[in-house]
Amino acid sequence: MFIRNAWYVAAWSSEISTRPFARTVLEEPVALFRRGSGTVAAVEDRCCHRGLPLSLGEVRGECIVCGYHGIAYDADGRCSSIPGQQHVSPRMRVRAFPTHEQDGLIWIWMGTPDAADRRTIPRYAYHEDRAEWPHRTCVQHLRCNYRLVIDNLLDLTHLAFVHKATIGGDPDAHARAQFSVAATERGVQFIRWLLNSLPPPTYVQAVNFTGRVDRWMEFEFVAPAVVYQFTGALAVGEGAYERGNRRGGFALRIFHGITPETEDTCHYFWSGAHGYRQSEPAVTDTLFAALSATFAEDAAILEAQHASLRARPAPLFNTVHDRARVIAERALDKLFAAE
Ligand code: FES
Ligand SMILES: [Fe+2]
Repeated sequence: MFIRNAWYVAAWSSEISTRPFARTVLEEPVALFRRGSGTVAAVEDRCCHRGLPLSLGEVRGECIVCGYHGIAYDADGRCSSIPGQQHVSPRMRVRAFPTHEQDGLIWIWMGTPDAADRRTIPRYAYHEDRAEWPHRTCVQHLRCNYRLVIDNLLDLTHLAFVHKATIGGDPDAHARAQFSVAATERGVQFIRWLLNSLPPPTYVQAVNFTGRVDRWMEFEFVAPAVVYQFTGALAVGEGAYERGNRRGGFALRIFHGITPETEDTCHYFWSGAHGYRQSEPAVTDTLFAALSATFAEDAAILEAQHASLRARPAPLFNTVHDRARVIAERALDKLFAAE
């Protein structure tokens, strides 16, 4: 069961061209395409003539044309022409989904079209600020329910175990982390501080820390499927914690958009942007490689967890570290109830 009246990431802007693109969202096959005018549209990926996926066709002007017998549909899913036939029945149409392109992302609304309000799309202006926040983007296909990905991002005590080799760092510091969490209007926000801790290897490579650091991890979940991450570290004594100084050390912003494909699979869209050594493209590449390795570690855990939960759905227990996750669950339940 999915929350349908919500905006989900359907694709990166860079994925959508005038060549139709297929992606399943909330169990519905969708054909995305860029119209001649440049705007992105999304229609049901199934021609209403003989059922061929429209993503196998082509874009002509503002329309998508089926690759079987050439029937054309406009961005609203209305059949606009049939080769060799004058009359076009107004009943001949496919479903169209509201879409909006913003911050380098294509957002899609799979629920009641009239309820789609673009103002509620989560913003992420860092994608448009390449000078301050150079970044690279990725989409991963995961064999797990999308909620497990959100859960994973909201309980960072997994870092010391799952990410020992990458971003984990000092396990003692993780156990002693200072943690504050608060419900927001649309989800939950939390910050973790690892004060006076050993920087992880990736941080040291990035900015040459020579001693211990104060490290922060700030997360915000916007229901149903977006998490903003702001992570960084400054050498102890530079006032990251005491004075709120966030400049001059290691700083990383990660966008996470998780879109259900089916109950058992999801699309995981993420980008990694760095707020240090911005003019060095090699740094962006190194960060991307490090994040890819980190998220591959998560993927292995999440897919194994999903398979285990599917096989034996027995009750689970919460610990003190599940606070943010529990608040997120409430936000999702609220959206679900509203539908
Ligand atoms: S199946 Fe699409 S035009 Fe015939
Ligand atoms: Fe992780």
